[in-house]
Amino acid sequence: MKAKRNPPRERAVTLRFVAEPADENLYGKVHGGAVMKWIDQAGYACATNWCAGACVTVYVGGIRFYEPIQIGHLVEVQARLIHTGRTSMHVAVDVLSRDLRTRESHATTHCVIVFVALGADGQPVDVPPWRPRTKADRALEDYAKRRLELSRTLEVERRPWLARAGEDSPGAFPENR
Ligand SMILES: CC(C)(COP(=O)(O)OP(=O)(O)OC[C@H]1O[C@@H](n2cnc3c(N)ncnc32)[C@H](O)[C@@H]1OP(=O)(O)O)[C@@H](O)C(=O)NCCC(=O)NCCS
Repeated sequence: MKAKRNPPRERAVTLRFVAEPADENLYGKVHGGAVMKWIDQAGYACATNWCAGACVTVYVGGIRFYEPIQIGHLVEVQARLIHTGRTSMHVAVDVLSRDLRTRESHATTHCVIVFVALGADGQPVDVPPWRPRTKADRALEDYAKRRLELSRTLEVERRPWLARAGEDSPGAFPENR
């Protein structure tokens, strides 16, 4: 049988499913940890689909929960590549919640995840570049670049914290030092 041709490289992945009672928190809404897991899964699928290889999360930036998700709502997790560096893929994720009876939809959560492609030796490898073609995509890429700058600033803030949590010290909290 003739092999099926691979579909073109896609920059977006959307997951859709109904929020189940198993995802419920103590207050009757969807658990934040469940939402974070869905975000990671959609982001991972999007990044892996783009680089067609192994990749890992290197940074999750500023996740914001705007509204709760109700059990029984249709959850839509939209992941979209908005910037590529040499080895990194920046994926923006939006979570929407839809009441299936009224069809009313709300954006509930947003974040940007940075994935790094890895070679067989576990070291970062180059990713296929993504180039914005529309005005909206250029705005998204600028957003990713501004976030990267913020993340580098945070990295400087984090350095002394990580140094304290090194091998010579059991942790960074004062009581552990
Ligand atoms: C991924 C890993 C191999 C990268 O190694 P590293 O020595 O940090 O590699 P580099 O410094 O070359 O950085 C790799 C890329 O990450 C990006 N990066 C690193 N820190 C970042 C941050 N705080 N924010 C955004 N991007 C960041 C770099 O800009 C670089 O991207 P580029 O090549 O497009 O410029 C290593 O950090 C690692 O193993 N981390 C743990 C991953 C993991 O276990 N994730 C959870 C489970 S999936």
